[in-house]
Amino acid sequence: TNAGTGCPVSARAAQFDPFEDAYQQDPPEYVKWSREQEPVFYSPKLGYWVVTRYEDIKQIFRDNITFSPSIALEKITPTGPEANAVLESYNYGMSRTLVNEDEPAHMPRRRLLMEPFTVDALKHHEPMVRALTRQYVDRFINDGKADLVEQMLWEVPLTVALHFLGVPEEDMDTLRKYSIAHTVNTWGRPKAEEQVAVAHAVGNFWQLAGKILEKMRKNPEQPGWMQYGIRMQQLHPDVVPDSYLHSMMMAGIVAAHETTANASANAIKLLLSHPHVWQEICEDPNLIPNAVEECLRHNGSVAAWRRLATRDVQIGGVSIAAGSKLLIVSSSANHDERHFADADLLDIRRENASDQLTFGYGSHQCMGKNLARMEMQIFLEELTLRLPHLILSEQTFTYVSNTSFRGPEHLWVHWDPSANPERQDP
Ligand code: HEM
Repeated sequence: TNAGTGCPVSARAAQFDPFEDAYQQDPPEYVKWSREQEPVFYSPKLGYWVVTRYEDIKQIFRDNITFSPSIALEKITPTGPEANAVLESYNYGMSRTLVNEDEPAHMPRRRLLMEPFTVDALKHHEPMVRALTRQYVDRFINDGKADLVEQMLWEVPLTVALHFLGVPEEDMDTLRKYSIAHTVNTWGRPKAEEQVAVAHAVGNFWQLAGKILEKMRKNPEQPGWMQYGIRMQQLHPDVVPDSYLHSMMMAGIVAAHETTANASANAIKLLLSHPHVWQEICEDPNLIPNAVEECLRHNGSVAAWRRLATRDVQIGGVSIAAGSKLLIVSSSANHDERHFADADLLDIRRENASDQLTFGYGSHQCMGKNLARMEMQIFLEELTLRLPHLILSEQTFTYVSNTSFRGPEHLWVHWDPSANPERQDP
């Protein structure tokens, strides 16, 4: 501890490093000491204040005036001059969308763009999600082993995201190549030599997003959230500016894709590592919706989010100066014993599982949460029905080093194909 040394930063706070593998492997466990002893601390390595308890984090999400979301997509590792020059050469101009927009611009835009996310509107996408899921499972169902990330969970949410946004089929493949670069660019700590390669991928992604948007503008009556935005721009150009549309075309893919792919992989990994729980949901699929919620709580795909303090303020009794940056570790909030009894236990019947903060909270709470939930439920429905005998294979899990987006890069499972239910009852 820092007792008596006079140093304002404790030894553990000084060591905190979210780019370490230990953070990626289990963020709530990595900051357990903080939840217990020092729930608000300054991280000199990151240059951020770190907040780890449920109530403090909810308080921050609740007040988006004091705690501005403007830095949510800011590069956590500033790029060097070489990478910046590369980005400039592509006219890269990512600006505010929704997630990082302040009031009073944010709320009117959010309201105007909400309709495609309503439960009714999302129902139209369900057959597409289910058909895609079945088609991907068909490809490996007789193999006896699969990397579920590589063979299903990465691509299905990406394709769903592209359909939801309204991207024409012929542009889907090129877009797929670039989207991962954005995560490393925004939340990662790429080395100097990687930065330039990442910058080229991000630049290409940006230009491609612009081209596809131009194409969409020619047929704005087509279905899709982007086309909906284009139509809203025609009615309210001040609420939905051009800079929004181009930025959202790129940020929207990442928001809808990687978050959901990672959440699904985290959920299946967690459930299969508790075989008796997996058996329970195989026997009673009605348990799936709350199981999804509990997985989002216990092992969500967004580990932490960011806010900027716009005035001097106290958090959990600690004084934070105006201009301070905050890393709010929502995955730690989700394991806070003060809010969730026996928080480390996986309990698919937990009554307050949906209090989880993986989707954020308050006026910026994830607009796509019900689309993500629907996808995760369908994945679990199809897998528990068609491959109830799945077994999690022995493996070491690896993660892309970054503060916020978290999911295993591979998820190996195996099973006995001769015991597939579809072979038993034809
Ligand atoms: C915002 C997480 C899926 C679209 C957010 C935020 C988080 C998040 C943490 C910021 C919340 C805040 O600041 O309070 C997730 C997770 C997902 C997921 C964990 C999957 C499991 C999706 C999907 C879409 C989407 C499928 C569909 C397009 C958005 C949008 C916002 C947002 C538009 C900005 C809302 C605003 O600022 O008003 N999401 N998301 N997300 N998400 Fe998601």
